[in-house]
Amino acid sequence: MKIATVVGARPQFIKAAPVSRVLRRAHQEILIHTGQHYDANMSDIFFDELHIPRPDFHLGIGSGRHGAQTGSILEKVEDVLIQETPDALLVYGDTNSTLAGALAASKLHIPVIHIEAGLRSFNRRMPEEINRVLTDHLSSRLFCPTETAVKNLAAEGITKGVFQNGDVMYDAFLYNLELAKEKSNILQTQGLNPKSYVLCTIHRAENTDDPARLTQILKAVSKISVPVVLPLHPRTRKIVHQLGLTSLLERVKVLEPVGYLDMIALEANTLKLVTDSGGVQKEAYFAGVPCITMRDETEWVETVEVGWNCLTGADEEKILEAVERFAPPEHRPTIFGEGKAAEQFVEMMDKEG
Ligand code: UD1
Ligand code: UDP
Repeated sequence: MKIATVVGARPQFIKAAPVSRVLRRAHQEILIHTGQHYDANMSDIFFDELHIPRPDFHLGIGSGRHGAQTGSILEKVEDVLIQETPDALLVYGDTNSTLAGALAASKLHIPVIHIEAGLRSFNRRMPEEINRVLTDHLSSRLFCPTETAVKNLAAEGITKGVFQNGDVMYDAFLYNLELAKEKSNILQTQGLNPKSYVLCTIHRAENTDDPARLTQILKAVSKISVPVVLPLHPRTRKIVHQLGLTSLLERVKVLEPVGYLDMIALEANTLKLVTDSGGVQKEAYFAGVPCITMRDETEWVETVEVGWNCLTGADEEKILEAVERFAPPEHRPTIFGEGKAAEQFVEMMDKEG
């Protein structure tokens, strides 16, 4: 088959890496980079480190308001699809690039394949929730990482073409963990000892775009008793400056966004993860690290149910309390498959479901 894949944001590069590797053994892939993320440390670094094939098309969209960004991607992906006439379009996750790609293909009657289908936060104020619901309803093949995702789709009447193949991020994590141990020297360069610091990420719109929430989060982070390492998303960096909150980060080791190998090295050696990222919540689980999620709800409900992830919202006291006391049980059951999600995806991609 000839598959056109649309990627645009950091987590999508990471998800595409294991899938492209397997997909290209038996199929032709046309890779379209929308340019939603464009800084070298938000984009190029992942293509280099993870040996992702160079994009066949780079649309250069850049940042913008939701409508403008989604609309520009829609228009430009449509041009590529008309030129390339692929048999199917593949999208990942829940970004504006995901929705725009799915919409462009569906209007041209090109079947849409969605990897990481069926996730729901049930919070329609999140741009990601709108993107996922719509993308799932436009897709004819839906690859779910978890059982909950399959159930969420069934509850919306989507049962045809649904497969549970595990999580491609787990494939990426397993594949790269050994490489990270060999190649990453971020602990040394940052003067960090294993299990002596807390790793933190903050970028979710509901936190960054609400000054009260962001202030609570930064206050909590500034009071954590061990060193805090914060690879800072450009969105958050800009807003922290605009709101004049930089003084709250004086005691924090603020880094530019790091590459994937450095990130998983930091994750594997942290005491705890404090985050509002979707992908990082899962990676905490893969690494066996307690996760504190600064959100009011999560799509990755299983990680909470089994006691490895706790939700604190953007509440300073709750975050600090969790950093001090949250302790998961010994047992860490399989939730995200066996690290063969990409292979299972390619096997099932053209099967009737
Ligand atoms: C996007 C996704 C989000 C995902 C995140 C992963 C949507 C609606 N959101 O959020 O689901 O979790 O990516 O990181 O698609 N910026 C830069 N350089 C870059 C990229 C962004 O400076 O390379 C800054 C710009 O000021 C931009 C802002 O970050 O306006 C937000 O970028 P955008 O892609 O709109 O959303 P993210 O917050 O990155
Ligand atoms: N990540 C990274 N460097 C960083 C921060 C995150 O490589 O500085 C990786 C992280 O390991 C995970 C992915 O980016 O694989 C998560 O992306 P992000 O948090 O931007 O988005 P989300 O998963 O919330 O959509």
